[in-house]
Amino acid sequence: MELPFAESYKIKVVEPIKKSTKEQREQWIKEAGYNLFNLRSEYVFVDLLTDSGTGAMSHFQWSEMMLGDESYAGASSYYKMKNAIKNILGFDHFLPTHQGRAAENVLFSVLVKQDDIVPGNSHFDTTKGHIEFRKAHAVDCTIDEAFITDLIHPFKGNVDVNKLENVLNKDADKVPFVLVTITNNTSGGQPVSMQNIKDVHALSKKYNKPVVFDSARFAENAYFIKMREEGYADKSIKEIVLEMFQYADAMTMSSKKDAIVNMGGFIAMKDEKLWEQASVYNIMFEGYLTYGGMSGRDMNALAQGLDEGTEFEVLHTRIKQVEYLGKRLTEFGIPVQLPYGGHAIFVDAKKFLPNVPKEEYQAQTLGVELYKECGVRGVEIGTILADRDPETKENRYPELEFVRLAIPRRTYTNNHMDVVAVGLKNVWDRRDEITSGYKIVHEAPILRHFTVKLEKI
Ligand code: F0G
Repeated sequence: MELPFAESYKIKVVEPIKKSTKEQREQWIKEAGYNLFNLRSEYVFVDLLTDSGTGAMSHFQWSEMMLGDESYAGASSYYKMKNAIKNILGFDHFLPTHQGRAAENVLFSVLVKQDDIVPGNSHFDTTKGHIEFRKAHAVDCTIDEAFITDLIHPFKGNVDVNKLENVLNKDADKVPFVLVTITNNTSGGQPVSMQNIKDVHALSKKYNKPVVFDSARFAENAYFIKMREEGYADKSIKEIVLEMFQYADAMTMSSKKDAIVNMGGFIAMKDEKLWEQASVYNIMFEGYLTYGGMSGRDMNALAQGLDEGTEFEVLHTRIKQVEYLGKRLTEFGIPVQLPYGGHAIFVDAKKFLPNVPKEEYQAQTLGVELYKECGVRGVEIGTILADRDPETKENRYPELEFVRLAIPRRTYTNNHMDVVAVGLKNVWDRRDEITSGYKIVHEAPILRHFTVKLEKI
């Protein structure tokens, strides 16, 4: 008999989590203005709000914390991080930042100006926020297959090169760079193939444009290339990662994902001149060049995390758990983005709650129902997240309304996944009774989903 799958780690430290009653949760979520971000974490049993900064570090990472060098300038921790970025990702130059959006802020301060157009595959909300904040535009060039949730496609994160070429053809002079998000978070944690990366790079070079990777989940992307793309089965994750980044001129990184730290980020680039230009903003917004918003111990843990996070067993264990949850939901007939993503299961809220009008926020409604049902916190990836159009101020209704169930790395067991699956099934069984949603009573002008307040209709 073939031995079953099991995690590639054992557990040394545990953190208790609390159960609650349905009545308590109904009260708490009402007080939170029906915004899941406004809940105290102690009111949550299984927290799938994000896989960002919520993973469990290894004992190697914790021991690196003790070795952190907290010197203001020239710390050994900086050089540890520099070496890891050179050896694992292949970049000569880098700037540490406190997280991913800080990397975007610094890099885009150099590259993006008013009226620019930044084509890419489903820009993440902070990325889009940093583009629109500079009165520039993000143009989504994701392949159409990504928007059909029950369609199986191995690389639903891909950039549609025809869409990209149209943008470049029409507005090349306004395009500062082409952005590729690996994996494509917003379309469901879906990977981008090596072939697509090469095609996008070739097209961008034809128009003389740099390529920037938003690399938060680059290692998960490499895992999918290994598992799904012809010619990569026998390559190591580290080999695939190096090959992927050959096709990037620069990258932004939220290290809270695939570098498995609680806080941290960086920008890396091949061109020294770009490094010099970005350095000015890094010093202004983040900190001195050799720490940029991170403590020495965190840079050490990050360097170690980059190494671990690009090991096959670490990724296999993680992605198997995401798949486990996905399979359980599929068994119950619950509609989710297929194939299952790298970091999360994306529940198709339009199909789940067709009786709730889109103006009443279907995915938000589902997220709140799931929390009330079982104390599981997911997050809306839908109309609230999409913000209003900066010019018309109208709601932007995205093609897909998702509740994302993002799984922190090395944090929960499959028993927790069973609670999530059965909790969602209970909501599924009573979906016909859910016919109304919420209205917004307070919102911020940009990135509103973090602080929005809602009332039940
Ligand atoms: N890019 C992608 C693809 C992301 O998923 C995120 C964050 C960022 C950039 C920004 O990084 O949070 O370190 O500033 N995503 C988190 C999430 C918040 O829940 O998906 P950050």
